Amino acid sequence: MSDPSLSQPPSPPLADPPAGGVAYAWISRMRQIMAFRHGGTLRVCSAICPHMGAQLQIDFRHEVVTCPWHGLTFRLPDLASDHPRFRKLKQYPATVRDGTFVLEETSQEAPCSRSK
Ligand code: FES
Repeated sequence: MSDPSLSQPPSPPLADPPAGGVAYAWISRMRQIMAFRHGGTLRVCSAICPHMGAQLQIDFRHEVVTCPWHGLTFRLPDLASDHPRFRKLKQYPATVRDGTFVLEETSQEAPCSRSK
């Protein structure tokens, strides 16, 4: 049985992240995303660590999204990891309109692809 909250559109509108900053938003009861700019490109990805659910952080200096709990990292720009179970962080295509960003699609996939 699918969770109906996973297909709901984001609400309220999501703030466009400032240069050098990050914006977090919940897009469903179980799914938080983070948005930031890397190389001038808006990037939106899962903000929930696939290991045990900590809120991920961006480290612009080292160009990684990192977990403060156990150190899992995802490299920019592809948000890939060397970890054998957590290979890539879920990304969401998005566009900016009038100071907010809009997800181009919602997905019912897991927030992070896992290798088996
Ligand atoms: S909760 Fe993120 S690495 Fe463990």
